[in-house]
Amino acid sequence: MSITLLAIESSCDETAASVCRDGHILSNIIASQKIHAQYGGVVPELASRAHIQHVVPVVDQALKTAGRGLIELNAIAFTQSPGLIGSLLVGSQFAKSLALSLNIPLIAVHHMQAHVLANLIEGATDQQKLPEFPFLCLTVSGGHTQIVVCESPTLLKVIGETTDDAAGEAFDKSAKMLGLPYPGGPLIDHYAASGDPLKFKFPEPKIPGLNFSFSGLKTAILYFLQEQQAKDPGFVEKNLADICASVQSRIVSILLNKLKKAAVQTGISSICLAGGVAANKGLRKAFLEMGQACEWTTFIPQMTYCTDNAAMIAITGYYKYLAGQFSALTVTASARACW
Ligand code: KG4
Ligand code: ZN
Repeated sequence: MSITLLAIESSCDETAASVCRDGHILSNIIASQKIHAQYGGVVPELASRAHIQHVVPVVDQALKTAGRGLIELNAIAFTQSPGLIGSLLVGSQFAKSLALSLNIPLIAVHHMQAHVLANLIEGATDQQKLPEFPFLCLTVSGGHTQIVVCESPTLLKVIGETTDDAAGEAFDKSAKMLGLPYPGGPLIDHYAASGDPLKFKFPEPKIPGLNFSFSGLKTAILYFLQEQQAKDPGFVEKNLADICASVQSRIVSILLNKLKKAAVQTGISSICLAGGVAANKGLRKAFLEMGQACEWTTFIPQMTYCTDNAAMIAITGYYKYLAGQFSALTVTASARACW
């Protein structure tokens, strides 16, 4: 029997829906919320309200693009955790109501597992083939920074993670200090392209094992900017590209040095990137170069599968369906949950 599954993602500020049939993505629709830019960050209450407005049209569009009707669905997958609780509640209540009314199974998906499994979407990465198990994944998003060993689609183990800020936060907070609007990560990426990454030196934290820390870097950037601006108030404006390139290069080296350590420790050479920060051009380039030098097989999802999307929820839902991992209608959304 074929499996047609509808997936809904609403963990932060994107309302997304995707239809997948037997593991093939038929549609991947995303409505982004522009309203938060004027506040310098995501405002949870506004995000929840926007999800309520977007969820029906986005699901409708996902079904239409896939050429499927509600009656053809075999299961509903949704992001259960982690994320903003109000935002998660909108997607989860919608998914539960739909599963109940169609009398089909419900599949709760962990957002971070889904970011990793984006690499298992056919045609999503730069490689012809899918990664072989076990593979390592560096997942870098706005709320998480993790190194994960993926033994199978449903058996994943976090072997390293941040002890404070996530890589995305390091980008966004650095951007804020430079007077750039939210989300600043893509803007740092943009300005860094024309800057000199060796112009300014920022420290690499000494964190044992495979864990990360970005709070020291944030403080170092703040003190550096205060000192330079005291001497020259126009410092940031005059040096924006070089500062962005130097900050980006340090964040990238922190990430990749730990990833290399993880590859050596585990002996795994099939290595993936995932999460919103994996859209960063500097990280993608340095990852490919490291992969070549270390003889890894590397996988990088296209931008649309790096940032939040429902196709990654759909592929995870599909594998959970095959593994019989269904949820009761009593399942609740959770801002934080382990997997
Ligand atoms: O995975 P994601 O879309 O949402 C979360 O689950 O958090 O990641 C969002 C994060 C934000 O911090 C954003 O600034 C960052 O990804 N980001 C980037 C780039 N595109 C998105 N950071 C650096 N360079 C980019 N090109
Ligand atoms: Zn995400």
